[in-house]
Order: sequence, then structure tokens, then C-alpha cells
Amino acid sequence: MKRRHLISITDLTPEEVGVVIQRAMAMKQDGHGKPLAGKSVAMLFEKPSLRTKVSFDVGIQQLGGHALYLGREEVGLGGREPVADVVRVLSRYVDAVVARVFSHQVLEELAKHGTVPVINALSDAEHPCQVLADLLTVREHKGRLEGVTIAFIGDGNNVSASLALGAVSVGANFVIASPKGYELPQSLIAEAWRIASATESSIRQVRRPQEAAAGADVVYTDVWASMGDEAELAARRKAFQGYQVNPDLMRLANPDAIFLHDLPAHGGEEISVGMLEHPQSVVFDQAENRLHAQKAALEFLLG
Ligand code: NVA
Repeated sequence: MKRRHLISITDLTPEEVGVVIQRAMAMKQDGHGKPLAGKSVAMLFEKPSLRTKVSFDVGIQQLGGHALYLGREEVGLGGREPVADVVRVLSRYVDAVVARVFSHQVLEELAKHGTVPVINALSDAEHPCQVLADLLTVREHKGRLEGVTIAFIGDGNNVSASLALGAVSVGANFVIASPKGYELPQSLIAEAWRIASATESSIRQVRRPQEAAAGADVVYTDVWASMGDEAELAARRKAFQGYQVNPDLMRLANPDAIFLHDLPAHGGEEISVGMLEHPQSVVFDQAENRLHAQKAALEFLLG
């Protein structure tokens, strides 16, 4: 059987994205077996993590497998030891590698030199596991994905990149409002359009947050400065002024719209203080769904 990776959300076909979300719903409601019994997964992390680390660790145990966490100091990925050597060794011990890295290229190198599936636990370019959980959350709260409009307010970053591709894969419309200089790459927009034309959905880029939020079913935001962008924080704080999800912006969306944030959140920056507790916020359901979505993805890739 061909080895499958989850480095980009597009490593799953649009149909498979739907299958994994459906399976995650079923596993959450009805339970599951132990498809990872006797299997081990290495978790290589170059950056901090709460949700990803804990949900992968717990999810792997619940599926009957064994997870090993390897932090930055332990492995020295690409420093103490070349990436190719690390993954050639790990491939002899474990059945999959979950990795959170600064550079997306490191994931590609892991996939190239290893012999086991590689799962992206966040890179500078994409965050596919987050987006499986996001789409699961939308499916649960809206009862459907097709035809739903998801508005993202803010940075054209890893999260919005995977969300754009994932949304159109399942037939949802995606609209993003970013300040000048912080838009999603044009190559990604083009790829999203290719997918959207097959699923009869759409992708739109606008400048004003109000334009994106108007009539949306889902309003989503993420931090102004991602991990690795800390040196740009002052410039970003200026550029992102006004790119805030707050009750006024929520009022422009559909009355039954939900609010999502992948967390951690910064009250007073990309959200107003108290936004996580807003009646339309489902961010803690969304955080819980990391567990269910990743279990379905692990079963799909390794089961
Ligand atoms: N865009 C954020 C997501 C954190 C889960 C970052 O990369 O830091």
C-alpha cells in the first residue's frame, strides 16, 4: 500500500477530507476500536504546543498506540543531526512521524528521506490538522459544509492557507480580509480556485474585515504574529489595526454565525477582550475537535 502523508491539507483529495470529517463525527459519537494497537508515533516539535501536543498524545493512546514526544533540545533537528538522518533512524523504530516545524521544507525532507507517513503538526506554510478540526466544528454547528461561507479576518498565514484549501475542498465558500502585504500567496489562491471550480464553491480576497464578515456563517481569526514572526510584532501590530473580531463585527455576519479561533488568542489584538466567551463563540468545541479530527486522520493514514 502506498505511504500517505498529511503535510498539506491537499494531500487528502477533496473527497477524502469529507471522509475524514465524517469519520471523526462517527468516532466522537459512537466510539472506535484500536486501529493503532502495537504502533508507535514519534512527535517532533520545534515550537511550543498545547492543543496539538496533548490531543495527538491522548488520541494516539486512545487508538491503542504509543506516542513519544521529542522536543527541540532532545533531537536538534537539522542542527545536532541532519533531518534526513533523523527520519531514517526514526523510520526504523516508529510507524509515523508527527512534526511541528519552523520551515515547511523540513516536513518535505522528512517525507523524502523517511519510510513512514509524515503528519504536519504546523509549519510556517500550513496547519492541516487544525483545519480538519475546524471543518468538523462547522459541520457540527451548521449541520452541513457545502454552501457555508467561512470568513477569515487577518493574516494570510499557515492557518488561513490550510483553511482556504480545506473549505473549498468540502464545498464551503471562503473569504479572507487581510491588510496589504499580509495576503495569502497568489499560488495558493490559484490552487484553491482549481479545487473550488470542481466543488462549486468560491474563494475571495478582500481588504476590509467588514466586507468579509458581511453575511458569513463562520467568522474566524488567528494571531497577528505567528510563532516565528515575533521579530515583526511591532510592524504587524500597526498593519493589523482594525483587523479585530469583536461583537460589532459579529453583528455583520449571519445572526446564527459561529466564531472560531485556533488559539492561543490575544484579547485586545485580533479579538476584543471577552470574545472567547461571546454567545456565538464555539472555540472550545473547536479545540476539543482537534482530538477527534486527528484520531480520524491517524486511523485513515495508519489504521
Ligand atoms: N498561526 C499560529 C497558529 C498557532 C496554533 C502560529 O503559527 O503561531
